[in-house]
Amino acid sequence: MLASDEPMSVEAAIEDVRRAAMGCLGCKLHALRTQVVFGVGNPRSPLVLVGQSPGEQEDQTGLPFVGPAGQLLGECLGKVGIRREQVWITNIVKCRPFERTSSARGKNRDPEPDEVEACQAWIEAELALLRPKVIVCIGAPSAQLILGRRVSVTKDRGRFYTDHRFRPAQVLAVLHPAYILRHHGEELEALRQQLVDDLESARRTTARLLKEPAPTPPAPPAPEPEAEAAPREQMSLFGDD
Ligand code: URA
Repeated sequence: MLASDEPMSVEAAIEDVRRAAMGCLGCKLHALRTQVVFGVGNPRSPLVLVGQSPGEQEDQTGLPFVGPAGQLLGECLGKVGIRREQVWITNIVKCRPFERTSSARGKNRDPEPDEVEACQAWIEAELALLRPKVIVCIGAPSAQLILGRRVSVTKDRGRFYTDHRFRPAQVLAVLHPAYILRHHGEELEALRQQLVDDLESARRTTARLLKEPAPTPPAPPAPEPEAEAAPREQMSLFGDD
């Protein structure tokens, strides 16, 4: 609460979390990072995208999804009429996991379970403030953390899940663009199209959920006016279908 008893805006609250995350020493990744890579975008977006962990370019710039996988993600979002800055894009792990090699750049690696666990409080804080209608999990580690169970994205993509602890958001798992980029020719095209189709499905579901009345809160007091206003402001971003 501010001195005036006005509730803090989501922008101010997420900025507080971001500042706190910048100094995180929660796991061994802090020792090798250039900087923490926190979520970016529109904190009032009803659609949030959650990836795995920063790579080299993300570590250098401090921004998620700016390397080759990020370029492909941006391209696929563009195909369904979404600009990156309209949505919130983040990762389950905020510092780059990598191995030292003979190259100065090192080699990206998947985050280890203790690193995912240590970072979990940040994604939980983000999602608690953003309260999205739809969470798109990019790749299996993200889907596993959000859904709280094992996921095979190639099998489980394209379906919305409601049974998880981030209710009432609907959760969709999509192929990770880095995985798509490991393919070639027709296979690459087919996988890229799957990602576009899934993002279109996320866009449509978000638009539909924005039109539905908000779920009845379990008990009074009535929802705060600010919290109600945010989703309505987003409707034009997601079309009218
Ligand atoms: N860049 C990110 O920020 N996250 C990923 O999961 C992959 C690349």
